[in-house]
Amino acid sequence: MKKKNLFDYNSKILKVSQLAAISVYDYIGKKDETSADKAAVESMREELNKLDFSGTIVIGEGERDKAPMLFIGEKVGNGNSGLKFDIALDPLEGTKITANNKENALTVIAIGDKNSFLNAPDVYMEKIAVGPGLPKNFLDLDSPLEETLEKLAFYKKKKINDLVVCFLDRPRHKHIYKLIKKKKCKKLMIPDGDIFGAISTAIKKFNIDIYVGTGGAPEGVLAASALKCLNGQMQCRLIFDNEKQKKRAYKMGVKNLKKKYQIKDLIKKDSIFVATGVTNGYLLNGIKKIKNNFLTHSLIISTKNNSIKFKKNNFKT
Ligand code: FBP
Repeated sequence: MKKKNLFDYNSKILKVSQLAAISVYDYIGKKDETSADKAAVESMREELNKLDFSGTIVIGEGERDKAPMLFIGEKVGNGNSGLKFDIALDPLEGTKITANNKENALTVIAIGDKNSFLNAPDVYMEKIAVGPGLPKNFLDLDSPLEETLEKLAFYKKKKINDLVVCFLDRPRHKHIYKLIKKKKCKKLMIPDGDIFGAISTAIKKFNIDIYVGTGGAPEGVLAASALKCLNGQMQCRLIFDNEKQKKRAYKMGVKNLKKKYQIKDLIKKDSIFVATGVTNGYLLNGIKKIKNNFLTHSLIISTKNNSIKFKKNNFKT
């Protein structure tokens, strides 16, 4: 019998993501972020534990004392196949969005061979991302954004005021907003959900030329796993607010705290990225309940075929 490998788990990981999204359905719009997140976490954990690999959560809900489940280092799976995988997840990307029934909430999970993902601590991260077709090492977080936009316009054969820049709507991004106004670029300011922001640069239909700004480090690693498959580019750098965060990161293996990470440093081996819509969004439609059935919309992006597969499934309750 052929030995199993990572790519034999495509549909199983898809199901983990779909069931997590369904588990959140009753919490959409209920103004209760904690319960919505808890439902997704519990569902993912239960489903992952049914699978026959030995999985280690490397990007999860945070540290063990703060996250009772799916904490970094937690073991999942029943181990029967003998295969060892690393798992990165954001059971509910957009807890606030979900609680307020706003657009773009997703369940997200990525799985890779052992030691695939950067063990990123749960801190903020500077990020910049573009889609495919640009020169190698195009991005540099230390280059002025104005220069990067000019270069991007040149290589994309666009006028600078035709570029579309995506970033999170946060006061800390005022400088980006001002620059875009000065350069008369177009913008997509998203309220939450920067996994989508980064990935959108590599999906033609969104017409987004660049994603830039500061968001969560776990979301950065997850976005990188999708961007890797879509031949995009991304550069990231961790941000530390205090000594405790620095010490924790050092313990997790981050020896150079100022390192600028490329996708190859964030995602070192083959991986599969799966997301399922919770609420309607740019990337995916949300969960629909039709009589006793749940209709889910998901996507799978893997290094096996470097393309996006969209999946619509019907679950009977
Ligand atoms: P959660 O739903 O997990 O809270 O994350 C939503 C999110 O918008 C991420 O996509 C983003 O990376 C991060 O929050 C930004 O953090 P903050 O809201 O603190 O600016």
